[in-house]
Amino acid sequence: MDSVKQALHLGSSKDATQEPTPEQVSELREKYTQAAQSQVFTFYDSLSTAEKAALFKQLSSFDPSYINTIAAKALAPPKTEPKTDDDDGEAKEPALEPLPESATASILDSKPEDIDKWYASGLDLIAANKVAVVLMAGGQGTRLGSSAPKGCYDIGLPSTKSLFQIQAERIRKVEKLAAKKSGTGVKVVVPWYVMTSGPTRGPTEEYFKEHNYFGLAAENVIIFEQGVLPCISNDGKIILEGKGKVAVAPDGNGGIYNALVESKVLDDMKTRGIEHIHAYCVDNCLVKVADPVFLGFAASLDVDIATKVVRKRNATESVGLILLKNGRPDVVEYSEIDQATAEAQDPKQHGVLKFRAANIVNHYYSFRFLASIPEWAKDLPHHVARKKIPFTDLETGETVKPPKPNGIKLEQFVFDVFPMLELKRFACMEVRREDEFSPLKNARGTGEDDPDTSKRDIMVQGKRWVQAAGATVVSDDPDSGIEVSPLISYGGEGLEKVAGKTITAPAIIDVDL
Ligand code: UD1
Repeated sequence: MDSVKQALHLGSSKDATQEPTPEQVSELREKYTQAAQSQVFTFYDSLSTAEKAALFKQLSSFDPSYINTIAAKALAPPKTEPKTDDDDGEAKEPALEPLPESATASILDSKPEDIDKWYASGLDLIAANKVAVVLMAGGQGTRLGSSAPKGCYDIGLPSTKSLFQIQAERIRKVEKLAAKKSGTGVKVVVPWYVMTSGPTRGPTEEYFKEHNYFGLAAENVIIFEQGVLPCISNDGKIILEGKGKVAVAPDGNGGIYNALVESKVLDDMKTRGIEHIHAYCVDNCLVKVADPVFLGFAASLDVDIATKVVRKRNATESVGLILLKNGRPDVVEYSEIDQATAEAQDPKQHGVLKFRAANIVNHYYSFRFLASIPEWAKDLPHHVARKKIPFTDLETGETVKPPKPNGIKLEQFVFDVFPMLELKRFACMEVRREDEFSPLKNARGTGEDDPDTSKRDIMVQGKRWVQAAGATVVSDDPDSGIEVSPLISYGGEGLEKVAGKTITAPAIIDVDL
């Protein structure tokens, strides 16, 4: 078993209420002592039987020396690229360049016949039941200020639909469109794998059950869970959140790769004959789930990963940048970018950022690539997020809420696999922001990437669609629009019935119209 599996998934077979034997405790204590992490046992002897069992179970699920290794690496990443045999011995700054045109296509200036071709071939793949969707929904929505899973969030649409419902309905619609195109009568299923984390799993499962999976078959909505890692103090120690509990946090959206293997999602995909996967983030209300154009584009190029980008709004927008780093596709994350790179200007276009391909975390994967996860998952780096982490004072046993960051959470990033690919196995598609990207990051009232902007962007898109279909929209408010149910239209198609009508916004166009 490799070290990643050891760190994340070595569960104890002990019953949670049964006290471990002294031998078991001493063996585990020794492991933590060897790793200079024995502080996690400070209060062990004073705990109740159930608490002892729970702490023993939690501690057994980590390998402390592996945690030390990844924490040390994350805290001291090489600032420059490693030396190579054929250079002058000096470490070098990584060479960053925008992706070459050969690796990118743009919906903005592609020929309509190419887009139509990708759309048709994507629908064919869906109709052949070769497509699955993976949703990353393990984040805790701290910036949004809500403790419920982000997917349950009602962004204020007239229908009160949540992000999960909108996405579920897009899947239902694309299944229908594919079935109609194929005309074979074979049932079309796009399985939806929903990655949750410790804090989001229970409420997500309940929410889906309560809402009857929004009309999808329960067996095709597979909810699974990513791993967690202990939080580490600024001096490298595993933090106790309570006397009998280690502070843990989800292992980042890059935890998806381990989770796909450990939760047997890949096995399930294999059984179903899945060959093409669309993966995306829960917070984007405009996401084209299982987008036939994107699937057809990526599959036609026979790449292993493709990614969608939009043009970065300005130098300070909190988005990662897709680029070429030392000749390989890569992302420089907004939390790690230096100012000079963020503000660099395109020498060929005045006033345009040089690095402007904003990562919207919409990825295509070939199944053959995901099948190789066990070969490389342990090599994915961990990144550091400095946080205020409540902890138990080891002297007094009191809980302390620190006023400033006192430790780190370790996270993997989903895009850190990109550099594993040669450029020819990678493709990038630029899409229109107003059609495909409006993330929910901040609390209402922020004015940027908040529930109001999410709602506005859906309503205004719906307005554009009905206008393009020949309707006239009247309203006193320019931001007001039309909510078009995904069950009526996936991407603006199928709205012929509104031609010639006058619609007063805000309005809903749904199944009952
Ligand atoms: C992310 C991207 C950034 C991109 C931006 C676009 C990463 C690391 N960064 O940043 O490059 O420009 O979105 O909106 O991908 N999640 C999990 N498990 C976790 C942590 C997060 O599933 O442990 C999920 C969240 O539920 C969410 C997604 O990953 O769906 C993105 O997480 P978030 O923290 O919002 O990412 P950003 O910092 O906005």
